[in-house]
Amino acid sequence: MLRHLANHPNNPVALDDLALIANFFDAGPNFHITFACVVRLYCIHWTWLRQVRQLFVADAREDDTQLRSSSATFPHEFSHMDAGSRFEIPQRLVTDRLILRRQEVSHAPEMRAVIEESYAEFSLWFDWCAQIPSVQAIEETIRRVRANWELGDQFLFNIFDHADRYLGVCGLEWVDWKVPAFEIGYWLRTSAVGKGLMSEAVLTLETRIVIPAGGRRVSIKCDERNIRSAAIPRRLGYTLEGVLRNERLSPMGMPQNTMVWAKVFGTPQSALV
Ligand SMILES: CC(C)(COP(=O)(O)OP(=O)(O)OC[C@H]1O[C@@H](n2cnc3c(N)ncnc32)[C@H](O)[C@@H]1OP(=O)(O)O)[C@@H](O)C(=O)NCCC(=O)NCCS
Repeated sequence: MLRHLANHPNNPVALDDLALIANFFDAGPNFHITFACVVRLYCIHWTWLRQVRQLFVADAREDDTQLRSSSATFPHEFSHMDAGSRFEIPQRLVTDRLILRRQEVSHAPEMRAVIEESYAEFSLWFDWCAQIPSVQAIEETIRRVRANWELGDQFLFNIFDHADRYLGVCGLEWVDWKVPAFEIGYWLRTSAVGKGLMSEAVLTLETRIVIPAGGRRVSIKCDERNIRSAAIPRRLGYTLEGVLRNERLSPMGMPQNTMVWAKVFGTPQSALV
């Protein structure tokens, strides 16, 4: 142990002190040498312990650095900050039929009109739609959402067709960059339902953000009774991982079950799924 300390490249303990410690163990019945050693040891005791601890902490840090640098070429191995520097979330995505744009405060009046049009459907599923929100309230929400984008937590897009008609919202939420894992949320104006538009938007998020960002998991959660919503992950090949019982309250305040659908990338499927 002492030889290891003495030879260690980060060893902060003076060689004399190490020799003294060695003497202590060798002293045997020779009382005055033992006593001198004890006093000296008492003096250096706290410093030494602290230094030894730092030495092992330095070792652990070094191991950690080596681990990170050895896996640096593995595209899934990064934190949020690393991810931010490696993959910039696009603010605009164009597909065959859609344009997804990062939400802007100026979209609020169009959003309000669409929420009003779709109120009968939305109020079944969203508690924020118990009353149709005002333009000001929507603007406030968009400001928060935009701040979350900067923090790397939530990336919401407004969906338009190529004629610039506003259709709805989709985006990535509850982002965990450590995995990385994403959850997708969405709503579509009632007059645009039944054309496959949301499936197209969700697939776009998956192929143009989740996968290039090194995502290992993307999930969609929905009320068990929301047949149209559940049809989207089913159509896109997600696995139903389970149903969480009484996991949410409906807008009417009744406990409801939540379906959890997910796709994983780059890791073996569990035998249990
Ligand atoms: C959930 C919601 C987005 C589903 O919308 P949707 O239009 O049914 O979903 P899609 O855009 O994927 O379209 C699928 C439908 O289009 C049809 N379709 C037509 N062309 C298609 C195409 N090219 N590709 C896929 N589907 C197509 C499908 O057959 C399907 O119709 P069907 O259900 O009558 O069989 C919408 O109902 C909604 O916004 N609901 C209220 C809010 C909500 O519940 N949000 C989810 C909370 S978890």
